[in-house]
Amino acid sequence: MKTILVLNGPNLNLLGCREVNFYGADNLKTIETNLRTLANQHSYSLDFFQSNHEGELIDKIQQAKNSNVAAIIINPAAYTHTSVAIRDALLAVDIKFIEVHISNVFKRESFRHKSFFSDIAIGTISGLGSQVYELAFLALVKILA
Ligand code: DQA
Repeated sequence: MKTILVLNGPNLNLLGCREVNFYGADNLKTIETNLRTLANQHSYSLDFFQSNHEGELIDKIQQAKNSNVAAIIINPAAYTHTSVAIRDALLAVDIKFIEVHISNVFKRESFRHKSFFSDIAIGTISGLGSQVYELAFLALVKILA
C-alpha cells in the first residue's frame, strides 16, 4: 500500500478556533478524518503530522526517505514564507509534493505572497478552505497511478 505523508506547520493545531474568517470552522482532527476516509477509499495509507517546530518537520521529511513515502502534501503554514531549511529538506529527499494553503494567501498581506515551496512543488492549491487537502490527495492519486 502506498503512503502519503501529510505535513502541517505551526498553529494549524489551532484550526477551528483560529481566525475562522480565514481558515474556517474545521479543526485539524476533522481534516485528518476526512482525508483518512478518502485514503481508505483509494487504498492508500496516510501519515498525518503537525508540529509547531521547524526541526520536527524537517526530521519527518528526512525519515520519509526511508519509510517508502510515495508523495507529500504540505501546509508549511508560516514557514511557507521563511523556511529555506524545510525547502532544502524536501529537495534533499527528492519526494514529490503538493503545497496547500487553506486561505488564499494572495488575497492577504504581501509577505504571504512569497513561498519558498511553490517553485519546487508539483503544484500549489490555495484559498479553497479545508478541502485543499482532499483536492491535493486526489491529484496525487492520479499523478501516482
Ligand atoms: C496558511 C497561510 C499562511 O500564510 C499562514 O501563516 C498559515 C496558514 C494557510 O493554510 O492558509 O499559518 O498556510
